[in-house]
Amino acid sequence: MVITMPAMPKPLLRALSGEAVWPPPIWLMRQAGRYLPEYRAVRAEVPDFMTLCTSPELATEVTLQPIRRFGFDAAILFSDILVLPWGLGRELAYREGEGPVMPPLRTEADVAALDTARLAEAIEPVAQTVRQVRLGLAKEAFGRAALIGFAGGPFTVACYMVEGGGSRDFAVTRTMVYREPALFSALIDRLTEATIAYLAAQIDAGVEAVMLFDTWAGLLPPSQFRTYVERPTREIVAAVRNNYPDVPVIGFPRLAGVLLGEYAIETKVRAVGMDTATDAVEATRRIPATIALQGNLDPLAVVAGGTAMRAETDAILRAMRGRPFVFNLGHGIVPQTPPEHVAELVRIVRAG
Ligand code: CP3
Repeated sequence: MVITMPAMPKPLLRALSGEAVWPPPIWLMRQAGRYLPEYRAVRAEVPDFMTLCTSPELATEVTLQPIRRFGFDAAILFSDILVLPWGLGRELAYREGEGPVMPPLRTEADVAALDTARLAEAIEPVAQTVRQVRLGLAKEAFGRAALIGFAGGPFTVACYMVEGGGSRDFAVTRTMVYREPALFSALIDRLTEATIAYLAAQIDAGVEAVMLFDTWAGLLPPSQFRTYVERPTREIVAAVRNNYPDVPVIGFPRLAGVLLGEYAIETKVRAVGMDTATDAVEATRRIPATIALQGNLDPLAVVAGGTAMRAETDAILRAMRGRPFVFNLGHGIVPQTPPEHVAELVRIVRAG
């Protein structure tokens, strides 16, 4: 006779649905990556980063690596926020030491050429990765780790598309917002619609929560933040809620500052990511306890390790105790991070 146990909800999903789980679930932004020797070994097998993102076998392997090593409460799909514009037909290359490079998008014709019809086919390798990761997690993670899917916030994705790659200040993009608001709005609308389809494909394939990375949200003045960050996020959250009421959305409007609370309430996200500069105590005052908080240890505290990392971690835990919370960094883990420091961080957080 086979006795099936009722599935225990995973700690991450409990926290995201508003429960003050303690010790809090933990995962780290960019947890799969170059600080891990096992990631560098897989990366060395492929000619470029996009090949890794579009090879389900290899992308599954690197998604699972940090779960095996550290026992995190979440796996995050291994992909990149720029896979969406690539799926809409924009060329994309990642150059060693330089980051992503794309042909700059500057005209109405460029926006009109974004091809939502080809998206589903282009991102099929991503859906396949999601299915394989779910199987892998069921086998290896003892029911604990949830799978998070993601997309970039439309504004942040637009930044890379307009600029043609990374930038210190995305001045070309921000000038376009002033000079050609109709063009920029058309781009944001297209990306919002495509992001909804992209997240739906990830959810259909098996992700259990989704996160919107709006890395450059804090570059905008408040009125533009409302138009190009809050409004598209609200539309994306509404679409996910309508079609998948059980799938929580985590929003991460990096460097939103005092607008973080407004963003959390206006967009109706289930959780907000706090960046490194956010005061965790202040965030608990401004953000209703029905919305989970996630964050926000300085990635460089994990590079330093030792008593400094412990003190910073303890302060965050003290601020968050008693409210729904997911431990994370304030931005992505950096390549020079010693993996032993990450293992120590997990021990500290699990000790509560
Ligand atoms: O582990 C995970 O978090 C999952 C995978 C993931 C990657 N990128 C893999 C990646 C996720 C969630 C991202 C998000 C992402 N990508 C963001 C938002 C979050 C943030 O960090 O602000 C942004 C802005 C990007 C765009 C991007 N991708 C840049 C600017 C770069 C170059 C800089 C760098 O770190 O190399 C990438 C490349 C990239 N994306 C790498 C990885 C592991 C490194 C490439 C490599 O291994 O060769």
